Amino acid sequence: MKYSTNLVLLAGTVCLIVLMSGCMGGQDNTTSTTQPAAATTLAGTFVAKASDIPPNTIRIFDYKGEQAILVNFGGSFQAYVNKCPHQNLPFNESSLTGDKITCPYHGAQFDPVSGKYLGNANGGNFGLKGLTTIALKVDSGNIYAQ
Ligand code: FES
Repeated sequence: MKYSTNLVLLAGTVCLIVLMSGCMGGQDNTTSTTQPAAATTLAGTFVAKASDIPPNTIRIFDYKGEQAILVNFGGSFQAYVNKCPHQNLPFNESSLTGDKITCPYHGAQFDPVSGKYLGNANGGNFGLKGLTTIALKVDSGNIYAQ
């Protein structure tokens, strides 16, 4: 009888450990390209360390409940609301193509420094307004959204 009681306790312990590992220590296999929400300080909302954003790349981050893009174009940082003004669809981290931000959906292109609409990748023109700018401040190597 004592032997079977110990066996039941052991089985229960193993089940508990398996359940806990699924809840607490399980590996998260989901992938996300967005940065976690960042803390807001007097300098603004921390976005990233400048040194973590290589030249000519785009990073997506959360800002005031929306997605935004941080663009490092040749060492110059800009941020925009992550909505293409054509149909409000998002850019991605591969949207910086050469010297333009190109929308992955229908090819609208924007200047990475000013956000100004430049035309369409296929030569068309949607007559769009530019991207919505988010003011940035770089302080001690950290980038903050204002
Ligand atoms: S949503 Fe960007 S070009 Fe259409």
